[in-house]
Amino acid sequence: EKGGYDHFMLKEIHEQPKAISDTLTGRISEDGTKVVFDEVQFPAGFVKDIDRIHILACGTSWHAGMVGKHAIEKLTRIPVDCEIASEYRYRDPIVSKNTLMVVITQSGETADTLAALRQAKEQGTRVLAITNVVGSSAAREADDVIFTWAGPEISVASTKAYTTQLTALYLFAGWLAQERESVGASEVPAILTALRDMPANAEKVLETAPAIQAFAKEWSSREHAFFIGRGLDYAVSLEGSLKLKEISYMHAEAYAAGELKHGTLALIVEDIPVIALVTQDDLYEKTLSNIQEVKARDAFVLALAWSGDQQIAKSVDQVIHIPKVNPFLAPILAVIPLQLLAYYASVARGNDVDNPRNLAKSVTVE
Ligand code: M6R
Repeated sequence: EKGGYDHFMLKEIHEQPKAISDTLTGRISEDGTKVVFDEVQFPAGFVKDIDRIHILACGTSWHAGMVGKHAIEKLTRIPVDCEIASEYRYRDPIVSKNTLMVVITQSGETADTLAALRQAKEQGTRVLAITNVVGSSAAREADDVIFTWAGPEISVASTKAYTTQLTALYLFAGWLAQERESVGASEVPAILTALRDMPANAEKVLETAPAIQAFAKEWSSREHAFFIGRGLDYAVSLEGSLKLKEISYMHAEAYAAGELKHGTLALIVEDIPVIALVTQDDLYEKTLSNIQEVKARDAFVLALAWSGDQQIAKSVDQVIHIPKVNPFLAPILAVIPLQLLAYYASVARGNDVDNPRNLAKSVTVE
């Protein structure tokens, strides 16, 4: 049942190219220029009236939502808030008839996310669910549903659910832009081309596994690790850090690289592993200077950078290269080495990878 892999997590990491491809199937027009979302049936006029979007989710799905916020705002200029569901429901969020709520939940059964969904429905807010489970509570209760076609995810640590959630969110951002004829509409055909190439590129990123495994073996005896990045790289850093904590039990922190100097630099000491993400071209120089700040404190820096980036090696100790794509879509590829890192660190530490202590696959209590 594990398809020859030692753990479900590793199997699911390797299933990502197919999962992404399945999530794209039927959602791109034949000429490749438009997003097709027959399942989204907004009332007449609503798509143009939306003036605010609230994304609600927990854990990994919340991290996907942070990328979704960036994507939707960039392509449509609709203001988007992305919030932890358990926080949202206990405050008094500002909503109107033109608010769209998007809930993201792999299982469709997370109690906190469902509570936010139900609260929104009571307020009369339209809810769209992005979920992986047909027939789940979220799928049944939301007004519209976009399924991620990741297939069953068994490992507690979420991997292919995240990359397919990103795929669905990029498609949804593109669809909104195209339907509203917003600023980003002209970028949609190029984004769709890049998305179609994503399964092949994800396949290439999986080839980084031996290098990541060697790094994980060497560094897994450490107690602390840091992940840094700016913009979308920061969103992916949060996910990399959660993954490492969840299954390797190492303490990890994700930091917006520019925020280090506001406190966290105090924790950067000799030989502490820092994983630096540098896929956002417009932020490259800024991130590089943050890398130099941690190098000056003798941290060990592993950078995740585009293939073809020759410059980065001069500033760091080790580089993992990933195939160059539009930086807007980088999170889908950049997360894969971080998933592998968490996986191999967990294995090296002798943990129960698929069933980490104290955690359940689906959190049905509040
Ligand atoms: O099923 P959901 O997407 O609603 O689950 C949300 C979180 O519990 C989940 O993503 C959790 O953070 C994962 N175990 C992380 O790997």
